[in-house]
Amino acid sequence: MARTVRLTATGPHRIDPATIAPGKMISICVCGLSQNYPICDGSHKITRAEEPGVLYTYSADAKAVIAQRPDDQYQPPAATAATPDQPPPIAGA
Ligand code: FES
Repeated sequence: MARTVRLTATGPHRIDPATIAPGKMISICVCGLSQNYPICDGSHKITRAEEPGVLYTYSADAKAVIAQRPDDQYQPPAATAATPDQPPPIAGA
């Protein structure tokens, strides 16, 4: 569940806080698919079908997967230590 993203910007995108309605939040796109990048436009919803270990390429309008292949840089999450069924006894109890 990763994707290739083609970005062409070479500088920052400044957001004037005065343009944001008081009390309203904006979300920054971290999926790379927003058509209003860097502001999230909901395009990330298509990534919910992505599977671990696959590298996806989306159409320019981010509405369809146009290619996918094994992700050779994929690293599965580290296994977490097993937790005991019972907590350790309390000394002196
Ligand atoms: S996080 Fe990218 S469109 Fe929402």
